[in-house]
Formats: sequence, structure tokens, C-alpha cells
Amino acid sequence: MALLVTGGAGFIGSNFVLDWLAQSDEPVVNLDKLTYAGNMENLAALAGDARHVFVQGDVCDRSLIDHLLATHRPRAIVHFAAESHVDRSIHGPGEFMRTNIDGTFTLLEAARAHWSSLNEAEARQFRFHHVSTDEVYGSLAPDDPPFTETSPYQPNSPYSASKAASDHLVRAWRHTYRLPVTISNCSNNYGPFHFPEKLIPLVITNALAGKPLPIYGDGLQVRDWLYVTDHCSAIRRILEAGQPGEVYNVGGWNEMTNIEIVTTILRLLEELRPDPAGSYARLITYVADRPGHDRRYAIDARKIERELGWRPAEVFATGVRKTVEWYLANQEWVGRVTSGEYRQWLDCNYGDRK
Ligand code: NAD
Ligand code: DAU
Repeated sequence: MALLVTGGAGFIGSNFVLDWLAQSDEPVVNLDKLTYAGNMENLAALAGDARHVFVQGDVCDRSLIDHLLATHRPRAIVHFAAESHVDRSIHGPGEFMRTNIDGTFTLLEAARAHWSSLNEAEARQFRFHHVSTDEVYGSLAPDDPPFTETSPYQPNSPYSASKAASDHLVRAWRHTYRLPVTISNCSNNYGPFHFPEKLIPLVITNALAGKPLPIYGDGLQVRDWLYVTDHCSAIRRILEAGQPGEVYNVGGWNEMTNIEIVTTILRLLEELRPDPAGSYARLITYVADRPGHDRRYAIDARKIERELGWRPAEVFATGVRKTVEWYLANQEWVGRVTSGEYRQWLDCNYGDRK
């Protein structure tokens, strides 16, 4: 038995692979293109571990996927691989359409062919789990109830539109071909190995470097934050007990405004590594808003709790402390991922923002 994981060198995928192999001896075949967001260093703890088979490749490459399915005969595919950053999707949506839509289509077709070739017992056990996002549901007003699994799809960014399209493909492959799929729509993750283009690691790394902390618009946008290992445990639980064709919303019951997130991080930094120049708050800089910026996301995670008994183990206060401590202890990792291409991205995204 084995799992085929796509995007397992990225932020959530690498946490998932590390967690999986910490709790199980079932091998993982990890297919990742190693884009700017993929990093083998995240998986360094698995060097020499025969349970982890890493393959550098593209989810759009059908013959490679056919070959991996025929060789390793996984009992499940867990599909993380995606372009994941909303701001990058605004600057250049093309790669989002290719990886997130074409890539998911390619994987579904390969999975369907593989699944059709299995014997009855293997076919019954097989799962295709698609990792998706709460952003497909659009934006909430302050008093709206949180998103449920039946909320209408109203994606607003090229990223969320591409993820919505991929969710629709997965749903259709269930409805038409009976492929045993599950989908999870999760809120904002944070934790170790989070690429510093995203808010939480950006604030930690910029503050430590004495650089401005860019807050889009008024900073009062709301997100629901979930510690990454809780997302991993939710996916493990869905693989274990999720029903084919079902969608599960995953969240942390932790809505916070962006400015609250930033000030919480700065308070922790003041405690653990005080600002040599006075106070980190001096670095907060309000900048032009993200075009089309969604105001609020919130997840109703009662279905996965009721049906699968999953709840997050971490609360924000403990999760964010672990996260800040991890970044303080892993400054070399930060130094390596923020060199090269990342500098060009900072110029592109923040250079012209007033
Ligand atoms: P990430 O950007 O950190 O990692 C993406 C990984 O996919 C990288 O390792 C990259 O090399 C790989 N990849 C990209 N294009 C590929 C391709 N064509 N073929 C093979 N591999 C490719 O992303 P993440 O934050 O870890 O997100 C993982 C998944 O979870 C995504 O599907 C994302 O939509 C979803 N998600 C993320 C969050 C979040 O807060 N980060 C929340 C909910 C859902
Ligand atoms: O909700 C789930 C989604 O969460 C995932 O599907 C995405 O892959 C993931 O990137 C994340 O999307 P967001 O756009 O919410 O995350 P990001 O960290 O980019 O931004 C969080 C909030 O912070 C958002 O309101 C924009 C704001 N922000 C972000 C950056 C990078 C700033 O104010 N300044 C910044 O410099």
C-alpha cells in the first residue's frame, strides 16, 4: 500500500508527508515540480528514508502519472499541488489555470484509468482526495454565517476561480464516472515551512530584518487561521473515514483581522527577540489594497466534527507561538528561500504600492 501525494514539497504538502511518515509506515510517493514554492529542504528529515519516494515532475504530465500509478499502485491520491498565492495570481494568472485546472484534470483522468483497472476490493478502497480552499465561496459580510459545504461558489480572484474550477472537475468525475473522490475546503493555514510571501511568515521575516510590514487597505479583513498540522490531521481523518463524493469544510474556529494577526506576532517577537531599534510596531506600513480583496472568510467546520470526529488540536495562541519560535530557530531556511527569485517577486508586488 502507498499514497501518491502531489505538491508534497510545498508548505502544507511537506507538513503532511512528514506527519504521515511520523505516524505510519505506509510509503509516500511524492510528485512535485519544485516550483519556487517547492523546497526539498522541507523534507530533509526524510533523507535516506525508503518510505519516501520523491519524483520531480509536473501534474500536467499524463505519461509520468500513468507510470507512477502503474509502478506504485497507490491506494489513494492526495492532491495538494497548486499555484497557491492570490497576489501572484493577480500579476500572472496563466500558470494558475495550467497547474490548478489542467493539472487536476490530468490527474483525474489518470486516476480514473487506474481505478478502472483495479479489482473490486482495491477499487472499493481507492480514494482521490482533492485539497481545496475556503476562497472558492467568495467573501462574507461581517454578520453573515460562516461558509458551509453547501454555500454557493463565488470565487473572486484568478487563484480562487482556478481552485473552484478544479473542485467542479472533481465533483463531475464523481457524478459521471463514480470515481471515489473526497474534497476538503480549508481556511488559512500557518506554521513551519510557510513560504514568506504569505502574511504570517512575511511579517515574522520582515520584522526580524527591520523591513516594512505591508498591510493591505485598512487591515481589517478577516481570515480564519488553522495550524498546519491540524489541516494534516483532518486530511488523514478524511482518508480514513470520509465518504466518497463528500465535501468537508476544515477550519480553526479562529477568525481574526489581519492587523490583529500582525500585532500578535509583533508582541511575541518583542518577548522572544526584542527589536534592537525600539519597537517592531514602527515597521507597520499601510499600503494600497489587493485588487478584488475578499473582506472576510469564515468556516463552519461542524460537518467534519459531527461525521468524522475531527476538531483542531491547536488554538491560535499556542500555534502562533510555535510558528514564531520555528522561524527564529530556522533563520538559515528563511535566508535560502528569500534569496533569488523571491527578491524579484517583492519588487513586482510591493514596488509600486503606495
Ligand atoms: P505551496 O505553494 O506552498 O506549495 C505548492 C506545491 O505544489 C509546491 O511544492 C510546488 O512545487 C508544487 N507544484 C506547483 N505546481 C506544480 C505542478 N504543475 N506539478 C507538480 N507540483 C507542482 O502551497 P500550499 O500553501 O502548501 O497549498 C497546498 C494546497 O492546499 C493547494 O492546493 C492550496 O490551494 C491548498 N490550500 C492552501 C491553504 C493555505 O493557507 N496555504 C489553505 C487551504 C487550501
Ligand atoms: O483561505 C485559504 C487561502 O489562504 C489559501 O487558499 C491560499 O492558498 C493562501 O495563500 C491563503 O490566501 P490569503 O490571500 O488569505 O493569504 P495571504 O497570506 O496572502 O494573505 C492573508 C491576508 O493578509 C489577506 O487578507 C491579504 C493580507 N496581506 C497579505 C500580504 C501578503 C497583507 O495585508 N499584506 C501582505 O503583504
